[in-house]
Amino acid sequence: MKEPIRVGAEDRVFVLTGAGVSAESGLKTFRDQGGLWEGHRVEDVATPEAWGADAARVWRFYSERRRGAGQAEPNAAHQALAELEEGIGDRFFLCTQNVDDLHERAGSRRLVHMHGELFVSRCAEDCGRAPFADHGLYETEEAIGRCSCGGRIRPHIVWFGEMPLEMERIQREIERSTVMLVVGTSGAVYPAANFVRWAGPGVRKYYIGPEEPMNARAFTRLVLGNAGDVLPGLVEIRD
Ligand code: APR
Repeated sequence: MKEPIRVGAEDRVFVLTGAGVSAESGLKTFRDQGGLWEGHRVEDVATPEAWGADAARVWRFYSERRRGAGQAEPNAAHQALAELEEGIGDRFFLCTQNVDDLHERAGSRRLVHMHGELFVSRCAEDCGRAPFADHGLYETEEAIGRCSCGGRIRPHIVWFGEMPLEMERIQREIERSTVMLVVGTSGAVYPAANFVRWAGPGVRKYYIGPEEPMNARAFTRLVLGNAGDVLPGLVEIRD
């Protein structure tokens, strides 16, 4: 059994998750062998330029991901994080890089999706209409949904080259945290890979995943293993 991570009555826990936390739910990660980007070059599907060049191809890619995520179930890692939130309430904050809705479906509430959400769309013309829940599947140019302003709708996903969402709130939560858990992310993409360095000097920082992340040196301890195996029971709440 791994040495427990103790969380006391004064501790505030900041959690960052990546694709690895959804791996045991059957959703591919981005960089593992045969990962998500294999079948699609990044430049072809997840950039504003790709949208300008072939919006229907971009929607086919995200429609495929909506199908996959729709069939996935939260795993023990998602459950463990929802239980931790249940245990410490507003001293818990979860920032995910993932666009699937598995954290919500496991019961997490105090979370932000810094790279957007798969089952949310928005007006591609930025007409001011708020992003909206959308499970639609769009395979052709003609099938792409339209906003009331007449513009096409696009996935509410942060593409490469676009600004991540909720960064001010994320920074504030990092500054208030005393414990940081980073789960299932390779540390290859910024600014998320820097969060561990933004945490204050006294913060205890743990990485959970089967292999060392690229920013491994910045952590207090690496807890190596699949999140679904090692997260349940890892955190001990001591109020
Ligand atoms: N439990 C925990 N971690 C796991 C598991 C598991 N069962 N299986 C794999 N991992 C780890 C891998 O070791 C790897 O370090 O998950 C990590 C996945 O890394 P990436 O595929 O790079 O995914 P992520 O870090 O979330 O990518 C960040 O890059 O492509 C962009 O916007 C996209 O949000 C994404 C961002």
